[in-house]
Amino acid sequence: MSRPQVFVTRRIPAPALAILEEACDCRVWEYEEELCPPEVLAREMARVHGLLTMATDRIDPAWIAAAPRLRVIANMAVGYDNIPVQAATEHGVLVTNTPGVLDETTADLAFALMLAAARRLYEGQRTIVEGRWKGWYPSFLTGQDVHSATLGIVGAGRIGRAVARRARGFDMRILYHNRRRRPDLEAEVGAEYRSLDDLLRESDFVMVLVPLTPETRGMFGAREFSLMKPTAVFVNVSRGPVVDEAALYDALVTGKIWAAALDVFSEEPVRPDHPLLSLPNVTATPHIGSASVATRLRMATLAAENLVAALTGRRPPTPVNPEVLDRPEWQGEGSQG
Ligand code: DGY
Repeated sequence: MSRPQVFVTRRIPAPALAILEEACDCRVWEYEEELCPPEVLAREMARVHGLLTMATDRIDPAWIAAAPRLRVIANMAVGYDNIPVQAATEHGVLVTNTPGVLDETTADLAFALMLAAARRLYEGQRTIVEGRWKGWYPSFLTGQDVHSATLGIVGAGRIGRAVARRARGFDMRILYHNRRRRPDLEAEVGAEYRSLDDLLRESDFVMVLVPLTPETRGMFGAREFSLMKPTAVFVNVSRGPVVDEAALYDALVTGKIWAAALDVFSEEPVRPDHPLLSLPNVTATPHIGSASVATRLRMATLAAENLVAALTGRRPPTPVNPEVLDRPEWQGEGSQG
């Protein structure tokens, strides 16, 4: 039997590529900093059995319909809002993601952003490098205390739990809002469940960790910001479209909230002249929640393992639409179409 054909949309760490190459013939989009153009992606999809994608690759449902050999899309991300999962399922294409391996790293960044915004680190650095540091005075760059404050976590999944454990070390009171109650989180870190509105009213820090879905798109708008404290810090490390950015800008300039820290934006890369980036009380990072060397290796390895398992007749470790595996074409020996 010929080897499965695979396309990888960016360079990935060598050990992960080696996992793919042992079982498959691989082609890799070689331009590390350049997005694989849609026409290349569509063309490759029509040819291959497996596709390894990044969160930045937006897959068109029509490309799946036009990909007769495609069996699996392994997304190197925990989020999979870039993949039309319903279309994939309809065409018997398995989708996988990389949950679990990036929780602690992403929680580190979420916490770093919260601290940076609360203590005005970005403003502090700019004050120094722009030669505006005139000396010490009592109100100079005063911020908000993180220790002993109230943290509201919206979307209490694995990353939320990792953030909550860090918050305990800062003696924070922890509130959470989630689709379902999390008795385990309540027992482990003493987190208290709140409706979204109550969480927004009571929290000093609001941290958003929900996946992007039709329900969460635009979840934070003018109404939500108006419920928050004027001293509140808003932190988003999930997906940009969860937030109405114009409403956030308005809340920041009118003093409805105190500051924001953002790792994600509605459009990425965000334009340097985006209004939010002109505000001194906005701390921004370029979607680097999971960006540690070790975690990116773990993500690439898990994505490669998912892809190879799917193409060699084994159950992938982390499928998104496992119901596909019950279809007749996935039963029996091997899975290469
Ligand atoms: C994820 O895993 O969903 C991240 O946002 C991509 O780094």
